[in-house]
Amino acid sequence: MVLPPAAALPRFPAGFLWGAATSAYQVEGAAAEDGRTASIWDTFCRTPGKVFQGHTGEVAVDHYHRFREDIRLMVDLGLTAYRFSVSWPRVQPTGHGPGVQKGLDFYRRLADELLAAGITPVATLYHWDLPQELESAGGWPERATAERFAEYAALVGEALGDRVGQWTTLNEPWCSAFLGYGSGVHAPGRTDPVAALRAAHHLNLGHGLTVTALRGVLPATARLSVSLNLHAVRPLTPSAADRDAVRRIDAVGNRVFLGPMLEGAYPGDLLADTAHLTDWSFVRADDEKEIHQPLDWLGVNYYTPTVVSATAEGAAPAREDGHGGGTASPWPGADRVGFHPAPGARTAMDWAVDPSGLHQLLTGLARCHPDLPLMVTENGAAYEDEPGADGTVDDPERAGYLHAHLAAVHRALTDGADVRGYFAWSLLDNFEWAYGYAKRFGLVHVDYPAQTRTPKASAHWYARVARTDELHPPAGA
Ligand code: FCB
Repeated sequence: MVLPPAAALPRFPAGFLWGAATSAYQVEGAAAEDGRTASIWDTFCRTPGKVFQGHTGEVAVDHYHRFREDIRLMVDLGLTAYRFSVSWPRVQPTGHGPGVQKGLDFYRRLADELLAAGITPVATLYHWDLPQELESAGGWPERATAERFAEYAALVGEALGDRVGQWTTLNEPWCSAFLGYGSGVHAPGRTDPVAALRAAHHLNLGHGLTVTALRGVLPATARLSVSLNLHAVRPLTPSAADRDAVRRIDAVGNRVFLGPMLEGAYPGDLLADTAHLTDWSFVRADDEKEIHQPLDWLGVNYYTPTVVSATAEGAAPAREDGHGGGTASPWPGADRVGFHPAPGARTAMDWAVDPSGLHQLLTGLARCHPDLPLMVTENGAAYEDEPGADGTVDDPERAGYLHAHLAAVHRALTDGADVRGYFAWSLLDNFEWAYGYAKRFGLVHVDYPAQTRTPKASAHWYARVARTDELHPPAGA
């Protein structure tokens, strides 16, 4: 009997980067070693009531000492890229002056081992761990922090530029500005809408100054980018009022960064929405030009869509959605916007699983910026996975989540989006910010007291996809 040919599996282009991501404070530990000093997250973790059960990143998953073992795991996973972040307080503890050699050496060794294993290092320069000293001097709401950031970036570029070819300036500046200074659920925990807007601008400026500084010290082959957690915003109903709520959240959630970074100007509607709070005079004459630097690719981080509606005047202000509660709003100028649970199955973060949001973002970006390659620099899900009696960790929901989102990436490719790679968040279970160690995002399970690593079933499935460039369905799908 001749069987009909099996339907071809979706195939990713040759050279598509298969990655996993982590960040320094979430995995490294070694918080007081080799000259590292406190970042705003060390301070925040020590502030009672800020982080689940007072958890800290002091030890985390000890990646600082176990990175070689972790690279062996990456090899087993078939990864061709690893996205990590450089800890600013480890390489330039006060945020000023020369670099600390021991700190820089750690990243040199990490990059060397990755290259030896055939894995492309992708370095993020800022994943939320501002040196405490710079926060004490005013933090991101102050212009000087943007200038310090570019100096630090140049120092790291000089130290690693011969090994690292892919760079990301900032990770999710929306979270730094609006969760850090607006709703206060992230470090440094301030709740001041004007400080949040000022922080957003100085993060933008820090990005622009850093791209310029890096181009000055890196080889011409270096590829520079930024990773944004763009919000796939949808209206609760098709009403004009709900569509205006979408516009507001798109402005203060997405275009506040995309505007100056990719088009050289803040959106007029954002300035109007926030005019009762600030006149934006902290934006100096040439700042938008400075921020608008050519990029080699754009990193997109996506987890879940955002559903909004217009709320009546006097209703409760908009709350942070999904990052740990808080009483103040992270959405300046959007007080009359309500947030609603998106439909669909939920992860342990209570985030709805909806891969169409990723497709929406990638194809939308491709339409507006057809010449800008894209990379999914974070995507993943937390579930309550624990080892079974035989020691294995079966996490069918995570494999299902990743499979569905990779299918969305593939659809976006088919629809013309130039997506060059995908990084699962995260390589390892780790310190999930305000949730401490309560939420597990890893492809690899970590037993924290023993620091043992066990690849979950999703890791084995992901390895098969990475090795074949084919989107095999996970077992049981
Ligand atoms: C993103 C962060 C990352 C991780 C995931 C779950 O917002 O960039 O560090 O916490 O969420």
